[in-house]
Amino acid sequence: MDNRPIGIFDSGLGGLTAVRALRRLMPREDLLYFGDTGRLPYGEKSREQLRRMARQDLDYMASFGVKAVLVACGTLSSNAEEVLESAPLPVFGVLKAGVRALAQAGGSAPAAVLATRASIESGSFARAFHALAPGRELISVPCPALVPLIESGHTGPGDPLLAEALEEYLAPVRRAGASALLLGCTHYGLIRRALSARLGERVALVEASDRGAAELAAFLERQGLTGGQGRETFYASGSPEDFAASASAFLGRELEGQVRQAPRMEVWEKC
Ligand code: DGL
Repeated sequence: MDNRPIGIFDSGLGGLTAVRALRRLMPREDLLYFGDTGRLPYGEKSREQLRRMARQDLDYMASFGVKAVLVACGTLSSNAEEVLESAPLPVFGVLKAGVRALAQAGGSAPAAVLATRASIESGSFARAFHALAPGRELISVPCPALVPLIESGHTGPGDPLLAEALEEYLAPVRRAGASALLLGCTHYGLIRRALSARLGERVALVEASDRGAAELAAFLERQGLTGGQGRETFYASGSPEDFAASASAFLGRELEGQVRQAPRMEVWEKC
C-alpha cells in the first residue's frame, strides 16, 4: 500500500490521454499532472534541449514526492531514454510499451507510426519496432502541424484545418496499405475520432499513452504500491485558465479554478 500520488507529465494536453487511461485502470489512485505549456511544443526542440528538459521535468515531479512517474510524451520517451532510465524513482515512458503493442497488431502487413518531428528524427521508434518485428515494414510520419492544431482546439473530425493536415500525413499510411497505426505522440489521442473516421476499421489504432499507462498500472499492482483517494491535481507552466478550459473539454469534467501555476522553466536556446 502506498498513498503517494502518481506523477504524469507532458508538454500540454497530450498526457491527459494517459490520465484518462490510468483513471479507468486505477480509480483510487491520486494523480498529479503537469502540462509544460510554457515550453510547448516539445516536438520542435533539439535532442540536447529535450534531454535537459526531461531531467528538469523529472526533478519537478520528484519534488512532489510522487511514487512513480509516467512520462506521457513520445518526444521525451524517444529522445531522453537514458535520462528516464537513470532517474532515482520508477519512471515509465510511452515508447517501448506503444511499440510492443504495434508489433503485435495487424499481422504482417506494413505498420505505421505518426509522431512529432523530434520523435521520428530520433530513430527510436523505428529501432524499437524493428528489434521486435524484423522484416516488417514501418512507415514513419512526422506530423509537425498536429500539436499546434490540437492545442488550439482543432480536434473535431469535420474541422477543415485538421482535415487538410491529416490528408497529408495519412497519405503514406494509406499508400503502404498499413494494417496498424501507432499514435506515437500522446496528443493524437485527442483526435482519435478524426483519425479512425479517415482510416476505417481495417487499420488498428494503438495509443502509446494507453500502453504506457497500462504498464505503469501493472507495475504498481505487482509491487504492492497501489493506494490513494482518487484525487487529481493539475499544474500548467503556461496559463492555468487556458489549460483548465481545454482539459475540461477533453476530460468531460469542470476544472475551472483547479489548475495551479507551475514555474516556467528555462529552454536553453543555444543547445
Ligand atoms: N505530446 C507529446 C508527445 O507525445 C509532445 C508534443 C509536443 O509538444 O510537440 O510527443
